[in-house]
Amino acid sequence: MRGDGETELAESTVDAETPLADATVGGEWWATGVVYQVYVRSFADSDGDGVGDLAGVRSRLGYLELLGVDALWLSPVYPSPGVDHGYDVSDPRDIDPLFGSLDDFDGLLADARRHGIRVIIDLVPNHTSDQHEWFRAAVSAAPGSPERSRYHFQSEPNNWQSVFGGPAWSRVAPEDEYYLHLFAPGQPDLNWAHPEVREDLEKTLRFWCDRGVDGVRIDVAHGLAKPEGLPDDRRQPGWTVVEDGTPDPRFDQDGVHEVHRLIRGVLDRYPGRMAVGEVIVRDDARWSAYVRPDELHLAFHFGLLNCPFAADEIRDTIDRTIAAAGSAPAVWTIANHDVPHPVTRYGSLERARAMALIALALPGTAYLYNGEELGLPDVDLPDSALQDPTWRLSGGTDRGRDGCRVPIPWEGEGPGYGFTTGTPWLPMPESYGALTAAEQLEDPDSTLSLYRRALELRKEHPAFRGAQIEWFGAPENCLAFRRVGTTLVCALNTGDRPVPLPPGDVLLTSADLTENGELPADTAAWLA
Ligand code: GLC
Ligand code: MG
Repeated sequence: MRGDGETELAESTVDAETPLADATVGGEWWATGVVYQVYVRSFADSDGDGVGDLAGVRSRLGYLELLGVDALWLSPVYPSPGVDHGYDVSDPRDIDPLFGSLDDFDGLLADARRHGIRVIIDLVPNHTSDQHEWFRAAVSAAPGSPERSRYHFQSEPNNWQSVFGGPAWSRVAPEDEYYLHLFAPGQPDLNWAHPEVREDLEKTLRFWCDRGVDGVRIDVAHGLAKPEGLPDDRRQPGWTVVEDGTPDPRFDQDGVHEVHRLIRGVLDRYPGRMAVGEVIVRDDARWSAYVRPDELHLAFHFGLLNCPFAADEIRDTIDRTIAAAGSAPAVWTIANHDVPHPVTRYGSLERARAMALIALALPGTAYLYNGEELGLPDVDLPDSALQDPTWRLSGGTDRGRDGCRVPIPWEGEGPGYGFTTGTPWLPMPESYGALTAAEQLEDPDSTLSLYRRALELRKEHPAFRGAQIEWFGAPENCLAFRRVGTTLVCALNTGDRPVPLPPGDVLLTSADLTENGELPADTAAWLA
């Protein structure tokens, strides 16, 4: 592809030294598979209370098999007061009645297996709920007590800010000590220097591995160690942190790696299981340390997720992500429960569809977020409907993440669109009526059909085997790469006019080609 209309495929412009994982050599499922994130509250409600649950997930496994995913990742379903919708856990070894029971969980695991789908759970080790028995004991115990030493209690707070807004310290009562919470006040941070905190995580890992889960996603994997003495944040204080290169003392402390080695040590005793970490660390060299051979199997890099729809930046991000992963498989994702849906973030359905073909063509593993495959846009919810703690804690300046958490429209009419027979926990807009899974299954041009076809090709076509990529010359605002050692070429046009396609047979495009066979703006193509 070149601006002057010629095709030019000989020019490889990047060193192809991006070996993928010994892991792929062993053929581990998690090194190449596609994982589908189920935000359980919003996926399918079986009992009409308006909140998705485990029986709901079970009832939709046929859909996930039809879609073609290899595994699903369940957002937290443990007992929780729900201040951060399950990311505030009061017992990490049980199921909240809102979502079902341990029996429902075991049933889901068994059913999923029958559908050929693996199950990953979401562990939240950085903090507990303030209703966890440990924190309740800490509150009723005295300053300096062993009960308080599992958390971070101090008579004077430092200047740290919470990720959700406002100070990272609260008091359990006036006159009492302050405790640290990097997220909501209902999410006190655990003290990772405390041996019981580590032992409890091992116990939790064994509990779920013994039940048969195939892996764990580690929430806030970059937070599981705090600096000695909790020194002040020397970056510009305030909620909007200016990045001037001064390290953030709240995250990415060296001590965190000891915890990841501990997690790996437990998982290594369960063949085939894996850990994927949420690692929000800007410096790529520091990020890489999390996926050393004795730490996490995989980590989210988030480069692609945060990248604007612009070919040059996408290309740089892909290079950076692959380089950072080193010998671990790269993890590609363009959506999750913390960011606006791709359609909204990129500004159009066309762009979201094009980016899906990029993420799914790259070597490594891909993570989808429920609703992404339906091309759902974010919902602009009224203030009164907002539930994300970010909204309140930011003092109403950040509307939070509810817009991407509106339930999945399955079929039929509102208000529940097959998600619930009751009232959905977040209101579903009328526009979702045209985007139901049932409608899209029937329509060969739908976004769901695009994802199904893409996943099928990715699984079955031999061109998807190459573990490295090389770049081709491409017109301005375009990119094209090939999976080395195979024939797969993926091309993307982020410009505003059609460009010629590279040679090859077209396998799939995110939109129709132009009449003379060119790749239109906001479109991606797979060729072989
Ligand atoms: C992670 C989760 C996010 C949650 C936070 C606190 O970033 O993805 O949803 O609010 O951790 O647990
Ligand atoms: Mg329910």
